[in-house]
Amino acid sequence: MSSYEIESLLTEARRFPPPAEIAEGSIAHPDLYRQSREDRLGFWADRARECVTWAKPFTQTLDWSGAPVARWFADGELNVAANCLDRHVDAGLGDRIAIRWEGEPGDVRTITYAELTAEVKRAANALAALGVGQGDRVAIYLPLIPEAVVAMLAVARLGAVHSVVFGGFSAQSLHDRILDAGAKVVITADGGYRKGKVFALKPAVDEALGLLGSASTVEHVLVVRRGENDIAWDADRDLWWHDALRAAPAEHAAEAFEAENPLFILYTSGTTGKPKGILHTSGGYLVQSAFTHRNVFDLHPESDVYWCTADIGWVTGHTYVVYGPLANAATVFLYEGTPDTPHPGRWWELIERHGVTILYTAPTAIRSFMKLGRQIPQGFDLTSLRILGSVGEPINPEAWVWYRDVIGGERAPIVDTWWQTETGTIMISAMPGLTTLKPGSAQLPVPGVRIDILTEEGVRVDPPNGGLLAVTEPWPSMLRGIWGDPERYLETYWSKFSRPDEGKWVYFAGDGAHVDEDGDIWLLGRVDDVMNVSGHRLSTTEIESTLVANPMVAEAAVVGASDETTGQAVVAYVIVKQSRREEHTDAEFSELLRAHVAKEIGAIARPRQVYIVTELPKTRSGKIMRRLLRDVAEGRPIGDTTTLADPAVMKLIEEMSGSPATTSITAGLPKRRR
Ligand code: WT7
Repeated sequence: MSSYEIESLLTEARRFPPPAEIAEGSIAHPDLYRQSREDRLGFWADRARECVTWAKPFTQTLDWSGAPVARWFADGELNVAANCLDRHVDAGLGDRIAIRWEGEPGDVRTITYAELTAEVKRAANALAALGVGQGDRVAIYLPLIPEAVVAMLAVARLGAVHSVVFGGFSAQSLHDRILDAGAKVVITADGGYRKGKVFALKPAVDEALGLLGSASTVEHVLVVRRGENDIAWDADRDLWWHDALRAAPAEHAAEAFEAENPLFILYTSGTTGKPKGILHTSGGYLVQSAFTHRNVFDLHPESDVYWCTADIGWVTGHTYVVYGPLANAATVFLYEGTPDTPHPGRWWELIERHGVTILYTAPTAIRSFMKLGRQIPQGFDLTSLRILGSVGEPINPEAWVWYRDVIGGERAPIVDTWWQTETGTIMISAMPGLTTLKPGSAQLPVPGVRIDILTEEGVRVDPPNGGLLAVTEPWPSMLRGIWGDPERYLETYWSKFSRPDEGKWVYFAGDGAHVDEDGDIWLLGRVDDVMNVSGHRLSTTEIESTLVANPMVAEAAVVGASDETTGQAVVAYVIVKQSRREEHTDAEFSELLRAHVAKEIGAIARPRQVYIVTELPKTRSGKIMRRLLRDVAEGRPIGDTTTLADPAVMKLIEEMSGSPATTSITAGLPKRRR
């Protein structure tokens, strides 16, 4: 963000106090803040007893002796799945709808808590019959269908560890994740619906396992029938999900596991090429998931219909589609497909049809709806909506106000929630019944979470200044490490601000932030080489490595450039090998390389533009100056070039990126996002 953008954010003067009807029935209470300030650990111990049913009660709240690896509620025992299922049935809520789901073609399924519990029991038995037990890893590669939720909960019920891989990721990405996690079983589907068509999933699994060859730890592949598309079959390895479940016994007693039993690994991009397997465990994660879900969304589980639009392949889908809402016995709405299929009002139609009361989505989606115009949502009855949420990237005040006015009927409060795969759950947010809202600000740390904004040197900044976001005390849902890489865990999050010799551990989030005079926090985006495209994290280095791995490419540099709709977009600068230059025109190279990245990583990583250049701007020590490339990509005058080894390079690049050979792809160069 430029200083101009920060300034316009901080002078944003609109204020929205909680609507009376939300304030009156508010689930969150000011006492939460008071108690958490006075006695943080006592606060979390109370939340742990209130939100979770323990098979064996814990006696110690936090063990930080192994910092920075925390142990929360460590001598307590629980079964995460039973907390999301059986206990609600036992409490007489078996007939409450757990999941109402609509497929992209319009097929609808309604599943009660009793039915979901029964299904998960069968699935747990089926997985156990395949040899899955405590600590084993199971990869899940599914469309957004109810079986995805069943699969996650069945794995959790066995004390095993799931690793969900987003269905949009390529066979190569799936391969990397299966290999790193050492998965024993893969759960997939023949295909799922997207943009009116069936996209096949099983072939990517076959390809990924083919790439693994004898290194494969995978013994079985369970296949859900959804797309009805033809697929290849390996009779020794593959089983139909429905057959396996039908053959499995109906009863399954949920065993209790230690609070620190691993629950899931979820891969996310970091600053280096290799995605990190973020490890989360059971008790603390479930406590903070349930607590934040209840309070941040003002959940009234008996009457709300809650819809989080994230896919289960992302952490938002783990915490706020599955674990938080189901632990709270909420009714969750799920939609398989894309927002514009078969018409651009699809989401609004779904809200009207299913009576959605809480909507949680990403700024990218809001900005793309904004572009289409308010007439589309105005064609539907959205009056059921009472709470709106935003996540994934900073939300600009313009989009915030549009969201509140057009979707929220000028009344629904918006909670802008800041958190990360690593934090597990929401860390900064307003509370709809308590907080006077400021468009564009995520506002306050949730009770029990301690956040500071620090200078590079680790000194706390005074309002109204900017700096780096840090978490200064451990929190229950924090990651417990990077799978198989303790060094990287220390290095990435704990080396910048911590002083281990003084026993001081400070978590570095990788985000820039401002704090204003009221103590409200304004997020400014990543300060590292991580891009945020449509609320999804991508690594510049990972995409550069992918480009350089293509035999046509000599060198590549990738930057995240501002984009009106997606927040940031991937822009690549590539030098083609001398020996290959004659093979294609620049425009052809550019298209081939965009397709290459999409194939290797997944469509979300496809660059918006690939500029074919003959030089890259480098310092005398050979470091690529991405800042200058970002200036070009954003159509800005180029900044200071004095440290370049050859300042003439930038002039060349500027000319080339505007050259006739590439105008076809630069034509839509976006205006900068405000
Ligand atoms: C990064 C984490 C947490 C679920 C989705 C993304 C950015 C997330 C916000 C927000 C400004 C945000 C940060 C963060 N981010 N929420 N409300 N305002 N930025 O999870 O893929 O782990 O990405 O997303 O830059 O570090 P993730």
